[in-house]
Amino acid sequence: MVTVVYSSRSGSSEAYAKHIATSLGSQCFSIKEVSKDLDDQILYVGWISGARVVGLNKVGDMKLKAVVVVGIEPESRFKKVKVTNYNKIRVPIFYLRGWIDRSKLNVFQKILFAVIAAKIKLGGLNQYNQPIFDAMMEGGSFYDESSAEDVIRFIGTGQQKS
Ligand SMILES: Cc1cc2nc3c(=O)[nH]c(=O)nc-3n(C[C@H](O)[C@H](O)[C@H](O)COP(=O)(O)O)c2cc1C
Repeated sequence: MVTVVYSSRSGSSEAYAKHIATSLGSQCFSIKEVSKDLDDQILYVGWISGARVVGLNKVGDMKLKAVVVVGIEPESRFKKVKVTNYNKIRVPIFYLRGWIDRSKLNVFQKILFAVIAAKIKLGGLNQYNQPIFDAMMEGGSFYDESSAEDVIRFIGTGQQKS
């Protein structure tokens, strides 16, 4: 049996984790509350901050089956190799898009987003980066449960889309 474990700051990774767990009939725990003695395999769903999959370092000796990274950038921009190496991930890795809830950001994170958004604007806004810019400045969601189908299929059947 696979148990879903997640880290989430503003709720989108938690929502994906709960959706995936419900689809699989699995248990679902926050990394903050999960028992470290859990014997099940783990599907870890964590939000990304820079190259770091938040909370993944706390999984310790638990048996990882796969990792789902939740970020804001389009999947085509997701730096899979960098994130895999940085977090020392040795299992299949999936990427899903979450949301930015500005009410959950602290002042430093708001400044960070303002700097990144300014850099994006300086490089020229287009149909691809405008939604990211808007989400950083005003909040916004790219959450899409149907995008979790590949993960659910992989955990359920072991088959990964090539
Ligand atoms: C401090 C900070 C750094 C972030 N860095 C990245 C990043 O490097 N790449 C990315 O795609 N999203 C980044 N994000 C966006 C989050 O990963 C995204 O909002 C995610 O959906 C949050 O998940 P949550 O709702 O479960 O907290 C960052 C968000 C914050 C607050």
